Amino acid sequence: MLSEKLIAKLNEQVNFEIYSAYTYLSMASYCESIDLSGFANFFKVQSQEELFHAMKFYDYIFQKNGTVTLEQIEKPHSDFGNILNVFEAGYEHEQMVTSRLYKIADIATEEKEHSTIGLLNWFINEQVEEENTFNTIIKKIRRCENNSAALYMLDDELATRVYTPPTTTNA
Ligand code: FEO
Repeated sequence: MLSEKLIAKLNEQVNFEIYSAYTYLSMASYCESIDLSGFANFFKVQSQEELFHAMKFYDYIFQKNGTVTLEQIEKPHSDFGNILNVFEAGYEHEQMVTSRLYKIADIATEEKEHSTIGLLNWFINEQVEEENTFNTIIKKIRRCENNSAALYMLDDELATRVYTPPTTTNA
């Protein structure tokens, strides 16, 4: 049985992962609006991944005899100004996710809640890849500055990203 404190924090994270999905869908919409459909595809896939993250926490809370409470989702940003700003905002968002996960992991560690520590380690390891993906694309966009042909090549590359639904939230 999880403590009320831990259930509350995991619940917050369910809501935050859904907010992340909403944020990335807003970024997809911005990219679509400036005719960068490959970048938009990247964010649509990212949004789907975030919903999977939300469901992984959701299922875990019920497996541990807790209850999920959904909250209002904050309106995401929508006017980013340019494509570099979008990815910088995404990178900042992922860093915020990492910091939130660390805080929950600290509580789980204090409470010696080992199965929750295991779950959080899965997420924390994912964050290494998430942050690196954003950082790598930021560097590529910077290299495309004043070179729209290179930017469209990157757009084509990101158009190939595909979401592969995991068969289970138990990983
Ligand atoms: Fe659910 Fe991108 O972290």
